[in-house]
Amino acid sequence: MTETYETETYEFFSEARSEAVVNARMGADVSTRLAQVMASLVKHLHAFAKDVELTQEEWGLAVDFLTRTGQMSDGNRQEFILLSDVLGLSMLVDAINHRRPSGATENTVLGPFHVAGAPHYPMGSNISLDGKGESCLFIGQVRDTDGSPIAGVQIDVWCDNADGYYDVQQPGIQPQWNNRGIFVTGPDGHYEFRGIRPVAYPIPDDGPVGQMLAALHRHPNRPAHMHFLVSAPGFETIVTHTFVAGDQWLNSDAVFGVKTSLIASIETGTDTAWRSHFDFVMTRKTA
Ligand code: BEZ
Ligand code: FE
Repeated sequence: MTETYETETYEFFSEARSEAVVNARMGADVSTRLAQVMASLVKHLHAFAKDVELTQEEWGLAVDFLTRTGQMSDGNRQEFILLSDVLGLSMLVDAINHRRPSGATENTVLGPFHVAGAPHYPMGSNISLDGKGESCLFIGQVRDTDGSPIAGVQIDVWCDNADGYYDVQQPGIQPQWNNRGIFVTGPDGHYEFRGIRPVAYPIPDDGPVGQMLAALHRHPNRPAHMHFLVSAPGFETIVTHTFVAGDQWLNSDAVFGVKTSLIASIETGTDTAWRSHFDFVMTRKTA
């Protein structure tokens, strides 16, 4: 007896119809969103391979690169997020998900160095615990989009030290919670704390992502910035940084985090310390 295939009703894989054949495999009852995302992923992945005529060797290099990216990742080091950051994907996802009215403070990348549970300090406190760096006063007000001050806003701040490292990158060298703190606004929405004038630093570049940047002749540097996580009940949380005006890396931030509205002027204050002024504008949560 000879067995036959119903070749007229089944479409085998081919270069020309690759996307359609793969996507046709998806079950009919897959959730609408998963089906949409995966079908689009397959479509663009196949179009990419065809566009560049991906060689077998290049495909192997990509698999090795992704494998090493995974192996480099652990609880302290997230090489995949770093990859997303340097490809601009983190900023794109952030932009898609945080479209805000003009005048509202813009978001930027969270980055890997936020640590929950920083010490709470009264306004005016100094968050620099290692005695290094040039003193800087960070000052401003938190308002809503109508211009009214917001009370009870939690302002969680963090930055690198004068050597360009976060405390978590140098345990035992820097004091724990160096250059980190949480402040809460009063009825006038005012905030004020002391720290250091932030310095530029390279993102961790000793892994596959650093190798990729080097291969692309890209530098790993971020312009000097202070991170802010600004939250209040009833308002959209702002994840952002303020950047030091005039920094040499503003136009080539390794992770594309700079936005014009986030560049804060910095000037010498009366007591010779630097002074960085920035007001935050929060949007109300919609139901
Ligand atoms: C940061 O600003 O802390 C950061 C952001 C993205 C990647 C690496 C570091
Ligand atoms: Fe940072």
